[in-house]
Amino acid sequence: MDIDLSGQVVAVTGASSGIGEATALACAHAGAAVALGARRGERIEGLAQQIMAEGGRAIAIPTDVGEEAQASAFVARAHAELGRLDVLVNNAGVMLLGPIENAPTEEWRRMIHANVFGVLYCSHAALGLMRAQGSGHIVNVSSVAGRVARAGSGVYNLTKFGVGAFSESLRQEGVAIGVRVTTIEPGAVATELPGHNRPQVLEQMAKRFAGVTPLDAEDIARAILYAISQPPNVSINEVLVRPSGQGA
Ligand SMILES: NC(=O)c1ccc[n+]([C@@H]2O[C@H](COP(=O)([O-])OP(=O)(O)OC[C@H]3O[C@@H](n4cnc5c(N)ncnc54)[C@H](OP(=O)(O)O)[C@@H]3O)[C@@H](O)[C@H]2O)c1
Repeated sequence: MDIDLSGQVVAVTGASSGIGEATALACAHAGAAVALGARRGERIEGLAQQIMAEGGRAIAIPTDVGEEAQASAFVARAHAELGRLDVLVNNAGVMLLGPIENAPTEEWRRMIHANVFGVLYCSHAALGLMRAQGSGHIVNVSSVAGRVARAGSGVYNLTKFGVGAFSESLRQEGVAIGVRVTTIEPGAVATELPGHNRPQVLEQMAKRFAGVTPLDAEDIARAILYAISQPPNVSINEVLVRPSGQGA
């Protein structure tokens, strides 16, 4: 069955690459108006131009989601300029791996900034608008790393386990105001995400994932569209998607 999101407004953070870009495009192709948030303004502006050239509706809003004022402004502008806010996809994130001992602690702050505060601030800004509208859906992109902890992934695990716990709490809070919440937990996906790691970490990751064909960003976008296109009485709480060849 074709998914039809016409008349809906979807705001996607981290829309400048990978899963966020694929999700925004898939939502636009399904008829939604989309608000694109990320720090790299030229990337989201290019994506907005592409969507509009294809006959869709999109706005690019340069945003650092870990800065409360910017996160709030992203959500408020999406709602004000596109007329409503049906779905917020909290997808922006960074993954900086390696042992705790001797880790550059700046990497921890970058992860907590985007993966934790980004999700909190955007959700906080969206809830009141969704309550007033009488409906809404918040999708939080966590990870298999939000379900399974590993040595060398401690702070990324902390942020993604945190997203899982926050999502479940938010889901329960949202029941009373008509807001659904979904946690999406991807396994390995071929995106820019690992590229920000130190060379020795990249070597370890290459060994761990040798022989695993990663998912494409579009595979996760399909899971997100599945969750947000259900009838109002159906709440998809959690979707864990690994590549077929990925064990743990
Ligand atoms: N790829 C995987 O294997 C995998 C597996 C499990 C979960 N995930 C999760 O999926 C999500 C998307 O990652 P991806 O794989 O698509 O990687 P990606 O291609 O690197 O995309 C990450 C996105 O997050 C944005 N971002 C990072 N920090 C930000 C900030 N402070 N403010 C606003 N935007 C920020 C980036 O945009 P700018 O740099 O332009 O700001 C980019 O658009 C992340 O939450 C990640 O943890 C990925």
